[in-house]
Parts: sequence; C-alpha cells; structure tokens
Amino acid sequence: MLIKSPADGFEHPVPSEITPQVIYHGRRRMLQQLATGVAGVGMASWAARDGLAQGAGWGARPGKLTALAAKATAVEGGTTSDKVTPYKDASSYNNFYEFGTDKADPAVNAHTLPISPWAVEVEGLVKKPAKFSLEDLLKLSPMEERIYRLRCVEGWSMVIPWVGYSLAELIKKVEPLGSAKYVEFVSLADPKTMPYVGSRVLDWPYLEGLRLDEARHPLTLLGFGMYGEVMPNQNGAPVRLVVPWKYGFKSGKSIVKIRFTEKLPATAWSKAAANEYGFYSNVNPQVDHPRWSQATERRIGEDGLFAKKRKTLMFNGYEAQVGQLYAGMDLKKFY
Ligand code: MTE
Repeated sequence: MLIKSPADGFEHPVPSEITPQVIYHGRRRMLQQLATGVAGVGMASWAARDGLAQGAGWGARPGKLTALAAKATAVEGGTTSDKVTPYKDASSYNNFYEFGTDKADPAVNAHTLPISPWAVEVEGLVKKPAKFSLEDLLKLSPMEERIYRLRCVEGWSMVIPWVGYSLAELIKKVEPLGSAKYVEFVSLADPKTMPYVGSRVLDWPYLEGLRLDEARHPLTLLGFGMYGEVMPNQNGAPVRLVVPWKYGFKSGKSIVKIRFTEKLPATAWSKAAANEYGFYSNVNPQVDHPRWSQATERRIGEDGLFAKKRKTLMFNGYEAQVGQLYAGMDLKKFY
C-alpha cells in the first residue's frame, strides 16, 4: 500500500477463497492429525516458535499449530481453480509498516515482535468488556482453515490458507450494545520493538475499522495461523484480522484492542490519504484508485512478471456472500 513510493512498481493484495478439493481434503487430514493434542500442546507450539524466532532468525518457520486446528472448513466463493500461494512468498512479501516499508522488511525485522504474553482488550459499547489473553482467545472457538484470496490495493494478490475462527464468535461473548455501529481495531505500536513506529510514514498505532455487520459476517476471520502453522510474525502474529472481500489493508495485524463505537472510526490509511483509502475499501474492479486501475491483479508467486494479469473480481469473488451488506449503497461514493 504504497502511498508515496510507487518505485517498486508493485501493487497490493487482498484475500479471497477457493478450495480445490485436493487441497481441502489434504489440509483437512493434516489438521485432524494436528488436532490430536489439546490446548496445552497448542501453547507449547507457541513457546517453541518463540525459541525459533529468537534463535534461528529469518527463514525459520514458527511451527505447527498443534491443537489449534480442530476442524477444517471449505469456504465458498472466488474461484475453485486458484492455486494456494507458496508459503515462502506469503511469508516474505509483506506489508507491515511497523517493520519497514519494503515488502522484504517485515520478514527480516519482525523477529523483534514480542508475541508472548499477549492480550486483546475489548472495550467500548459492549455489555461485557474484557481483556482476553492469547490463551483465552485460542480456546474461545474451534479453529478452522479457510483458504482466502488476499487482494492488495496495490494490485497484487495471494491465496492463503488461514487458520482461525469467525470474529463473530468473539463479538458474541462481549455482547455489543444497541448503540454500537462500528468496530475499531488497534494494532500494537511499540517503538522499542517495532523499528518504524515513530516514523512519519503513518500515524501510529495502525488503526482499522469495520461496520458492525461486516465485523459479524462469518467470513471475517480472527486469524492465529496460516498453512496449518502458527502465524509468522511478519504476517501479524499472534492474532490478526482477515477480511477477504476488502483490500488487504483492512486486515489489521498484531491486534491489541477492539473497540465498539457509535461513530465511524478513523483508520490509519484514511488519515494518511482520505481521497485514496476510504473506510469501506471493498475490492471493486469498477472503482479505480485515484492513481491506478483496480481492474486486474498480479498473483504473487504464480505469475511471472510478464504473465497476463488476472481480472479482479467484485468483492474479490465473495459477492454472493457479502453483496447484500451494501445493497442500495453507491460504491463509488463509499469507496
Ligand atoms: N497491519 C498493520 N498493523 N500494519 C500494516 O502495515 N498492512 C496491511 C495489512 N495489515 C499492515 C497491516 C496491508 S497494506 C496488507 S496488504 C496486509 O496487512 C498484508 O498482509 P500479509 O503480509 O499477511 O499478506
């Protein structure tokens, strides 16, 4: 999501889903095997991954999501013929500006992210505000694997098997009040461990927001892992959002606070350039970014630089599931 330096010539990503049967069944088997442990084992894999992150540095994979994946679910939407992006591409070509603005920076720098202990505070217009430890969150609902396409506003895309559960499960626990209309997501902003927090590239912390009905939509995922493994730091460990029908920047990483509000929340990118990055940011090939077209995308890891681009799909391929959320809205105005 390069505002000021289109120098790398790249565009951006967003999620979507697809589930070729072979992949689905293969993963399902794998996840069932992984699920033979219980919660304690799951946490052990987080501890093991700490060791890896500190000891082995970049290139180390964080380890299996042992007990986290109790159930795999194929998600309809998008196209079923999409290939899953290789893990190495999904974990080395990232946007995580707290760790640098180059796509390669997060994989190199994010080993300093302090993922344990971790807690997410849920506050604002809810009956039951609470601070959830990561352990609480891991146990809150059975994990599922969902293969979503991520389509970045910069014009690139990936297909990633995420592991997590619907954010709606957490929302149910805290019981939003009738006055709650929006949900704000606050990422960690720790200048001691995140070298670019404090830089002027964005206003920190990284903020994102959804309308309450979008946040409650079953496709909106609270993600703890990918490819059957613990989330790599550079992809937003230990817990992030994945909103597959919106441009990738709506999916905040390393979330520490979720706040229910009556007023539309400010977001990091709309604060930086409101005319370029709206609140809704639904993937929409018919509404161009002011500086480039959104009609096509380049699939990372699959297409060569000169390969034909793919056509971007309305709502990233999830129109059947989410289109009704925007019935009657002018999507050019609410971009
Ligand atoms: N979350 C935080 N906290 N900081 C960021 O810079 N970048 C966003 C989003 N979440 C970002 C963030 C953007 S622009 C994209 S495209 C996706 O994360 C990238 O997710 P990925 O690296 O897992 O593909």
